[in-house]
Amino acid sequence: MGKVPLKVWIISSLLLIGGALCARLYFSSNDAAALRFSPSPRAARRPAVVARTGQRRPAEYTPERQKGGIQLQDRVSDQAARVRAGGVVRGNGGGAGLPVLKQQLPNTILIGVKKGGTRALIEMLALHPNVRSSGQEVHFFDRDYNYENGLEWYKSRMKPSLPGDIVIEKSPAYFVVQEVPERMRADLGDKIKLLLVLRDPVSRVVSDFMQGQHHQMGKMVRVADLTPSQLAAMQRRLEAKVLKADGAVNPSASFIKVGLYAQHLERWLHHFARQQIFITSTNTLVTDPAAVLKQASAFLGLSPFNWDKHIVRVPGVKLPCLSRVKESTGRPELVCLNATKGREHIPLPDALRRKLADFFRPQNALLFSLIGKTFDSWRHDDDQQQVAGGMPEQLDVQLKATDLSSPPQPQQQQWNPEQAKQGKRKTPAALTPVDQEQNEQDPLW
Ligand code: A3P
Repeated sequence: MGKVPLKVWIISSLLLIGGALCARLYFSSNDAAALRFSPSPRAARRPAVVARTGQRRPAEYTPERQKGGIQLQDRVSDQAARVRAGGVVRGNGGGAGLPVLKQQLPNTILIGVKKGGTRALIEMLALHPNVRSSGQEVHFFDRDYNYENGLEWYKSRMKPSLPGDIVIEKSPAYFVVQEVPERMRADLGDKIKLLLVLRDPVSRVVSDFMQGQHHQMGKMVRVADLTPSQLAAMQRRLEAKVLKADGAVNPSASFIKVGLYAQHLERWLHHFARQQIFITSTNTLVTDPAAVLKQASAFLGLSPFNWDKHIVRVPGVKLPCLSRVKESTGRPELVCLNATKGREHIPLPDALRRKLADFFRPQNALLFSLIGKTFDSWRHDDDQQQVAGGMPEQLDVQLKATDLSSPPQPQQQQWNPEQAKQGKRKTPAALTPVDQEQNEQDPLW
């Protein structure tokens, strides 16, 4: 050390520092190379994806909206997940030949009916790589305080999508709130596609009631755990909600009003042509979901998709579950909506069931003549039928041709953790953010 003059040490150190600085400057002008300098590989991936896709903040993007759940980073990982999932890539993405995701107004709306299986249907549709679902219910057209925010606000609730995607939201109150069809047509035009899943109105009443009980008690009601007097008290509470003092069905009760399907549908048909509305039943969604999705796909003009592969039966879970790729991680996950759906129903006293069935029968007949098909499982001739246990409904005549043209599908698959490369998780996960019925109750209906 003593042999090397101090001057030489200083000069070589300065040269080294200068060289390092030049190299840093040179590489930082190149995104890909800059990644090599990034301290964390995770942080490093972000700018690379943004740069490659030409990802830009949509004009309406504000930090405030970020809080609302749609974050720039979500969009990026969204994009990555979709590409991983084999999503169709179209358009010109910022000069790199890749698409630019941006928020668009919905072109498809699932309008109802409450407790019809709307959550299951939208989650199933969103399995398709070209379907972008808003996740939570938006309640734009039915709640004045949302409607007053205007269309830009509405658009900001949608997930970023590509041109040609199906952009969908569901708010089941739309079907029954007076002003909605007129507002929707004025704002979105008469070419918007509408989806409607209808449930036997008697079973719908009980489902709605059980949801209320669940929320009141803060837990799922287990019918077997109820004492006879608790069960009788619950049945009386239900009666009080649907019958008048004289014992007749109360047509003004909200549980009942929702089930006046023909009246609601007629209002919609004043504003939209029948062919703009796809109508199916909860029963078919439960017994043959892939058939419903094939029909809905034809209606929406979606590319062919193997629904049977993604909708699976899980031992011990009574309703179909979803096998899909988790957007944030790109890894397979199994999702059963069993945290707040598929609740047990209390048995209806015979007299009450008969009253409700008699009340809804002529309403149902009106509906069937309006839509040109019948839902056989809604019959209550034996006063015992449960929606989920019935046979698949008669197929929509208009859609039957498309359905018959598709090749026979394999039997619905059972969930196989190995096949799905699920990793350590063996049991079905409850769908957390969307299955909590946050925002899924309408105080009026
Ligand atoms: P129950 O809880 O009475 O069984 P919505 O999502 O519109 O609130 O509807 C809830 C209903 O969707 C549930 O009512 C359930 O029967 C029905 N449903 C149909 N298919 C389903 C599925 N695959 N998973 C969960 N629920 C489903």
